[in-house]
Amino acid sequence: MEITVTRTNSPKVKPDESSLVFGHEFTDHMFVMDYKEGQGWYDPRIVPYGPLTLDPSTMVFHYGQETFEGLKAYKAEDGTIQLFRPKDNIRRMNQSNDRLCIPAIDEDLFLEAIKAVVKIDEDWIPTSPGTSLYIRPFVIATDPFIGVKPSSTYMLMIILSPVGSYYKEGLNPTKIYVEDEYVRAVPGGTGYAKTGANYAASLKAQVEAHKKGYSQVLWLDGIERKYIEEVGTSNAFFKVDGKVHTAPLQGSILGGITRDTSIELLKSWGIEVIEEPFTIDDVMRWHQEGKLEEAFATGTAAVISPIGILGWKGNDIQINNQEIGKISQKLYDTITEIQNGKEKDTFDWIV
Ligand code: COI
Repeated sequence: MEITVTRTNSPKVKPDESSLVFGHEFTDHMFVMDYKEGQGWYDPRIVPYGPLTLDPSTMVFHYGQETFEGLKAYKAEDGTIQLFRPKDNIRRMNQSNDRLCIPAIDEDLFLEAIKAVVKIDEDWIPTSPGTSLYIRPFVIATDPFIGVKPSSTYMLMIILSPVGSYYKEGLNPTKIYVEDEYVRAVPGGTGYAKTGANYAASLKAQVEAHKKGYSQVLWLDGIERKYIEEVGTSNAFFKVDGKVHTAPLQGSILGGITRDTSIELLKSWGIEVIEEPFTIDDVMRWHQEGKLEEAFATGTAAVISPIGILGWKGNDIQINNQEIGKISQKLYDTITEIQNGKEKDTFDWIV
């Protein structure tokens, strides 16, 4: 299928790179493709970025049948545009689509669409340290119908946002609240899928943690309320006695691409990574025994976010003197330098 292109007549003024935060600015164009039962995906197109007109009964507004992804593009010093592991995002989006009863998207066409829209807006890719072009594909259910069933029509869109740091702290260690009231996901639920409902359900805990002075929450499992799952929208890692622990992918947590990247890098540096269940009591015990060396979160948006303080049952523990740990810094530097082309990609992650 050929992707048609309609260019904007009124390009926007680009933001100042030095003041970029996360997710406020959008580029001049977007990719759109429609789906209809019996016809499949059709009419892939790049059009000027702008608002949508949708019937108020459109299904996604009522029952949240939608999925999304997040990945980044960088411009190397020689001008080459680098996408980081886009095929993994595409594969994961189809896994999420399957869970949400959304039809699969052809993976080659999807990659072509990402490449084409990024290429059109390539002048929007920021190059200052810590910046990138965040790519946000998403699918929404578009039937104008308020009965509960899978929609028979959908829209895939890809929008682009030049971004800086996700957390206002940047790479500085964050203060994280261990959530003991709300849960994010349970086995058999949608925890592994990237769907808006997971994020909507997490907001209350995030707001309450902010009020208590924390940046984010650490989620525990939804059944026994003790196993470590995720930090906010990211995966969680704990370095203990030279080894790194992270929760296994058992259906309730998101299979982060930065999670996988970090595991691959750590192993390549000879560091053992243990993907087995562990509890908040284990973390507290490791801390008491002086074995908890570092903790950090991994995600596309924040890349690596060191954890400086963990608040649990009224008690704040300090990790690594609230400093950026060696492994956190090394992972951040290596990942961002592979992404922006300063370091050789021996893993075949760059497209
Ligand atoms: C990510 O970092 O991968 C995320 O999912 C964050 C995004 C929801 C803003």
